[in-house]
Amino acid sequence: MDKMWAGRFSKKLDEKADDFNSSIRFDSRMYAQDIRGSLAHAEMLKKQGIVSAADVALIQQGLKSILTDLDNGVLAIDEKAEDIHMFIEAELTSRIGEAGKRLHTARSRNDQVAVDIRLYLRDKAEEIVALIKDLATVVADKAEENADVIAPGYTHLQRAQPISFGHQLMAYAMMLLRDIGRIRDAVKRMNVSPLGSCALAGTTYPTDRAFTAELLGFDGVTENSIDGVSDRDFCLELMSAFAVLMMHLSRFSEEIILWSSWEFKFIELDDAYTTGSSIMPQKKNSDMAELVRGKTGRVYGNLMALLTTLKGLPLAYNKDMQEDKEAVFDSVDTVVMCLEVFTPMLATMKVLSKNTYKAAQKGFINATDLADYLTKKGMPFRAAYKTVGQIVADCIEKDLVLDTYPLKDYQKYSDLFEEDLYEQISLETCVEKRNSAGGASSASVRKQVAYVKEELKKV
Ligand code: ARG
Repeated sequence: MDKMWAGRFSKKLDEKADDFNSSIRFDSRMYAQDIRGSLAHAEMLKKQGIVSAADVALIQQGLKSILTDLDNGVLAIDEKAEDIHMFIEAELTSRIGEAGKRLHTARSRNDQVAVDIRLYLRDKAEEIVALIKDLATVVADKAEENADVIAPGYTHLQRAQPISFGHQLMAYAMMLLRDIGRIRDAVKRMNVSPLGSCALAGTTYPTDRAFTAELLGFDGVTENSIDGVSDRDFCLELMSAFAVLMMHLSRFSEEIILWSSWEFKFIELDDAYTTGSSIMPQKKNSDMAELVRGKTGRVYGNLMALLTTLKGLPLAYNKDMQEDKEAVFDSVDTVVMCLEVFTPMLATMKVLSKNTYKAAQKGFINATDLADYLTKKGMPFRAAYKTVGQIVADCIEKDLVLDTYPLKDYQKYSDLFEEDLYEQISLETCVEKRNSAGGASSASVRKQVAYVKEELKKV
């Protein structure tokens, strides 16, 4: 096929170079957005009297028939085409003749591709927000179910203080709410139309950019034509929001992997979301969570790749920028895939509350509460802290825990110790008394669940 730009050339492009230059393999996924942009552009050309109403009618019919045929698989994408924009324009002209050649008046592929990516990412961002909402809902439901389940909370992966297991889960729900916020912020800045920036300098035709922007559902137009065609901040912003989201999913995955191990055994994943080993018959591996953790790397990598691609580019468009699409599309695909597996994996996960409780009984997890007991009876906290430290050391020596350490031994350290201490340091009390705002008690978890569910309705 002759190139549309073949006019000034006397030789054909080398075959390998042609292949190297082509983006059709990865930009054909934007065909619907490309046609949508062209339909709006044609409508504007008509309104402004730049192209006749008769020609625009032909163009629009032609574009719609191409869209239908691509949707239905009647028309196949020509893998030899240079990119999706050239392919559709060539197909249009082959369908409607001369009128097709008028579509590209007062437009360039540079503003065309910038519009297409924005439209595409806007849709995908919405899809991803919906998936995050589903996940946040499942997390909140699981947290509610497990509000009364006592588990150890950790710092440095050492047992630290007792918490409601639901409290730990709700930490992830808060992260997901922020992820939605970040994506929405990125979409807000992305949702302006570069169409009409043309190659880089605008045009001498009497175009109406606000009109096409409105037809395409943009909130306004880009204010500088050079920026309009060379800006890819919106890809970077979205990709960095995705990178943070994946970091959250990866941390969650890491905990799920740990919790599934025999060393913890806090949860049991459903068979549908685990795999076996080819050699070890006893194995049940949390491959889905491991893959989510693993795929986080490529989402970070895509962000770094595009940042690096853009950093040295003079204004305005350079072909380097064609590299934006594989990076951002891969991030979109990866995030969608991960969320689609992660959410049902979590929904079907069973929490083994006896085990979380048992784990909470070990590790002197109520030592802070014992220090608080003394503090509330008048001992300064720092002194109470030291006293309890000495008692812990003695317990370890005698293979006891704070709950089984005899009262008469306690009283050797301080006469503030009384029989009521045992009740005060019971796991149930330790969790339930942590009723400060955002604390680990079951009542606080229920409040958090209500908050998240309310927020999810708003976003
Ligand atoms: N396929 C190109 C891209 O994705 C479209 C823009 C081409 N513009 C140009 N001046 N060569 O970036």
